[in-house]
Amino acid sequence: MNGTILVTGGTGLLGRQVIAELQRTDQEVRDLSRSTQGPYRGDLVTGEGVTRAAEGAGTVVHLASKPPGKTDVQATRNLLKALKPGTHVVYISIVGVDRHPYSYYQVKRACEDLVEASGLPYTILRTTQFHDFMASLARSVARSPIVPVPAGWASQPIAIPEVAAQLAALAMGDPAGLVADMGGPQVLTLREIVELYLTAEGRHKPIVELNVPGKVSAAFRAGYQLAPQHAVGRITFEEFLKGGVPSTSYFRKA
Ligand SMILES: NC(=O)c1ccc[n+]([C@@H]2O[C@H](COP(=O)([O-])OP(=O)(O)OC[C@H]3O[C@@H](n4cnc5c(N)ncnc54)[C@H](OP(=O)(O)O)[C@@H]3O)[C@@H](O)[C@H]2O)c1
Repeated sequence: MNGTILVTGGTGLLGRQVIAELQRTDQEVRDLSRSTQGPYRGDLVTGEGVTRAAEGAGTVVHLASKPPGKTDVQATRNLLKALKPGTHVVYISIVGVDRHPYSYYQVKRACEDLVEASGLPYTILRTTQFHDFMASLARSVARSPIVPVPAGWASQPIAIPEVAAQLAALAMGDPAGLVADMGGPQVLTLREIVELYLTAEGRHKPIVELNVPGKVSAAFRAGYQLAPQHAVGRITFEEFLKGGVPSTSYFRKA
């Protein structure tokens, strides 16, 4: 690989840690995002700054995303167009996007398709939900006096530093196509996740499980978002919460 790695979304929760991992190598690491303090500020949706950031990059770790994802396909298209032949594209995706009807997952799948069809060498890593995301979700629903959770939904949350280390290793390696799913150490129901969150905050609230109709809910109940055969993460959600309940809100940002 040549010495320059471009990370898109380097200001994000995952991106900051991927950049920290890559900076331990002797490669030049660039961050392309709209709010970066670095020299490669840009916007993948408008295309501003993308050509400059991509110039001379031999590897691109594409993490940028804006849920619910309306602009992600355009952003990915603009990125791929700016890359020279032979650039190794490493893309972060989500477990189950190949069969899950949830709209954001379908967007991730469409971006995977673009990467695969680009003719560029690529590596795609699908992971389960990040600890921070599930904590944010729990905080959001736990505002109600009685906490509603969808019956039968589960998650297998994973630590962002573990995903970041894996992405950095993949970026330093040869293109590998779609690699094995990466899941957290435990499958937890949403009820268990909210209970662990409330306990970590020293609170207790009644939780009520609701039957949510529809095909998206059915897919969550079927567990398409889980990877129990690939429970390679080591840090449990409970251990993560012991490090302090994070104040990040995915839902305010969206
Ligand atoms: N959260 C999860 O549970 C989970 C699970 C599996 C995979 N993933 C994937 O992991 C990736 C990172 O997630 P995260 O949780 O770290 O998200 P995040 O904290 O919201 O970070 C998103 C990043 O995308 C950048 N971005 C958004 N729009 C952009 C644009 N138009 N141009 C350039 N950069 C843009 C943001 O930077 P600026 O705002 O500065 O532009 C930010 O750096 C996403 O692709 C997500 O789909 C997430």
